[in-house]
Amino acid sequence: MNRALGVCYYPEHWPEDIWPEDARRMVAAGLQWVRIGEFAWSRLEPSPGKLCFDWLDRAIDVLGAAGLQVVLGTPTATPPRWMLKRHPDMLAMDAQGRPRGFGSRRHYCFSHAGYLAECKRIVSLLAERYGRNPHIAAWQTDNEYGCHETILSYSPAARGAFRDWLAQKYQSPEALNRAWGNVFWSMDYGSFNEIDLPHLTVTEPNPAHVMDFRRFSSDQVVAFNRAQVDILRRHSTAPIAHNYMGRITEFDHYKVGDDLDIASWDSYPIGFLSDRLEASAEHKAAFLRQGDPDFQAFHHDLYRTVGKGRWWVMEQQPGPVNWAPYNPAPLPGMVRLWTWEAFAHGAEAVCYFRWRQAPFAQEQMHAGLLRPDSAPAPGLAEAIQVAQELALAPQAGCAAGDVALVFDYESAWAWDTQPQGADFSYFRLVFAWYRALRRLGLNIDILPPDTADLSRWKLVLAPGLFTLSAQLRGALAGCAGQVLLGPRSNSKTPDFAIPTPLPPALPGLDARVMRVESLPPGANIPLEGGGNFVHWAEEMEGQAPVTLRRQDGLPAMMGGKISYLAGWPDDQTLTSILRDLCQAQGIATWDLPDALRKRDSGARRFWFNHGATPLVWEGQTIPPAGVMWQERA
Ligand code: GAL
Repeated sequence: MNRALGVCYYPEHWPEDIWPEDARRMVAAGLQWVRIGEFAWSRLEPSPGKLCFDWLDRAIDVLGAAGLQVVLGTPTATPPRWMLKRHPDMLAMDAQGRPRGFGSRRHYCFSHAGYLAECKRIVSLLAERYGRNPHIAAWQTDNEYGCHETILSYSPAARGAFRDWLAQKYQSPEALNRAWGNVFWSMDYGSFNEIDLPHLTVTEPNPAHVMDFRRFSSDQVVAFNRAQVDILRRHSTAPIAHNYMGRITEFDHYKVGDDLDIASWDSYPIGFLSDRLEASAEHKAAFLRQGDPDFQAFHHDLYRTVGKGRWWVMEQQPGPVNWAPYNPAPLPGMVRLWTWEAFAHGAEAVCYFRWRQAPFAQEQMHAGLLRPDSAPAPGLAEAIQVAQELALAPQAGCAAGDVALVFDYESAWAWDTQPQGADFSYFRLVFAWYRALRRLGLNIDILPPDTADLSRWKLVLAPGLFTLSAQLRGALAGCAGQVLLGPRSNSKTPDFAIPTPLPPALPGLDARVMRVESLPPGANIPLEGGGNFVHWAEEMEGQAPVTLRRQDGLPAMMGGKISYLAGWPDDQTLTSILRDLCQAQGIATWDLPDALRKRDSGARRFWFNHGATPLVWEGQTIPPAGVMWQERA
């Protein structure tokens, strides 16, 4: 598979007479892909049934004739204003029961049957018209499911669909009452029609109720996406993608991914650092213009798995964005570094968002590759540099992971529902483990929670899985390498109750969690040999060998080939625990400085300096934002 660059373009934003020149400049810059159309519904269908596709025909012709391959987006993230007149109840509702207003985007409810029918209609029209167009080389469904907190909707449409979903799942209200434990606080239901969405209750709703609502909401996204995919496939053989996001866990991306050919995601490293990551003020200052050194890599690894090997960056930050609390400009070199980092993780394509900065509307402060006056913005030169470098080595390659780390969406919902400590977050927990592995210079494979075969990895890590699937249980038992489970593993039944025997309840591991506690910032539980548990700690009993102890004498880690870590270690301690496990398995590790990261691709070993100062490594100086690579033997 060749690696390629591309860009997001909005022909409907610009006079038609500049399209040919834009297309010519894209090609001259070395771009091969252009994504269009994903917000254009009001211009494709200005009033119900009045179709204006001729401009899109011409745009595709112009771009294709210039030599670009087109990704055509379905415009369903932005239903036009007239849609509301037709379907006044199509709006999603927030947890306070307020409708989400018109005037930006993503205001629809996934459960509204009328809106779903409208989506199928517009997608059919597009698929019929462009399904065999030679310039349409890929599709994108909708845009960023989950952006602006839009997965959970508390609308009447969602309530009705949730009741149906529950009736399917439980068959009788008695079965539901038993599964949820509704005897508690007299919450028993006599019929499915009595069940409301879990909001506006006096105090917290039953966690089992919330968990089912989260599962239902995720299933609605899967179904919505599948409806589009089914139509597109009837008319086109081009691969279908969706553009996922950073740290969005409200729906099961693996399940959406099962229906698609390519996973893509939208990477805004500087925006994410300030607005989506727990980190110290020093860390945020050190990486102000670079973004976090591990956050993008985590998502590259995640979406490689969601896409079953085929993944892209559909939107890459090219300069300052507009939506974070503060929006610094990237350090010179970072646009190139981010792009190469994606390719080093196996991306097929990286597309910049966007071609030209829009002078109007919400994103007028968001950079593009061109300024609003069409002169080059600073990101363009870096994109051109990558295009030239790629031309010398266009083939993609992706090395196998040294270690595997399980990531599960249901666990994110479970610990959102019952965090037990105000700052407990499943993503944060898994990301802490991921970061420790990156510090050790490892290639990481992220695995779904139903992985059935772990024979490829010498080290498999799974912190915080709220329940263990039968497949994973079998795979763990058959894994020849080392397994380390982390806190809260298998600590609930699928019905959100505490299981007995007490967790983690793994065959061959005589260890039980008797009691857990959460800790506020600054509170620690010291460990023998240095370091601390922070945020979370568990008290264990059992006969399994103790491999690490707390200073109070309680076990901190127990087991053998399958081990259990009974708390959340500080970053340094976690790194040293994982380093020891790697060494015992014969996995080579590095001790990388904060700003330096390594990634092996098929043929190359890459080193990335995410820092703002030069770094000397293995006798070579890597400049700030520098990328160094060596051919691998
Ligand atoms: C993404 C979105 C784009 C644009 C971009 C700005 O989340 O898909 O349409 O809004 O952010 O950074």
